[in-house]
Amino acid sequence: MEFSQETKQKFQEILSHYPVKTAAVLPAVHLAQEEFGYVSEEIIEYLAKFMDMSPVFLKNTVSFYTMFKGKETGKYLIQVCHTLSCSLMGAGNIIDYIKEKLNIDVWETTPDKKFTLVKVECLGSCGTAPVMQINDDYYENLTEEKIDEILSRLS
Ligand code: FES
Repeated sequence: MEFSQETKQKFQEILSHYPVKTAAVLPAVHLAQEEFGYVSEEIIEYLAKFMDMSPVFLKNTVSFYTMFKGKETGKYLIQVCHTLSCSLMGAGNIIDYIKEKLNIDVWETTPDKKFTLVKVECLGSCGTAPVMQINDDYYENLTEEKIDEILSRLS
């Protein structure tokens, strides 16, 4: 089993958008799903080797991903990292601020189906904590002002 040449190119393109490979796991899994139509254990092993990372890490991420994609999400999936660096840099306050602003709890979607808020493990950008990812875009060094600005730009 191997990625096609076209997929390998797409993969390199994806990697160039992320600070570290671990941050590109979800798009890489998407790519594998596109290529093979599913994500089996064998594909995870292949992808882990391809990305030079632990298959266990990849497997955990995929199972987490399946968990949240199993639910209906809003147009914008707000994933706020709450792992150590982000947590120390105020991720808890950031999450509370978004909860209050959107009037939803974690794992909930706004009634207009625009935003879903989730907490995630390390997004691989610890040096710029606190960090969140909305769909495919990263937002770093978050503050309440930045969140106001980011959310107001999303329509
Ligand atoms: S701890 Fe948040 S990005 Fe790593």
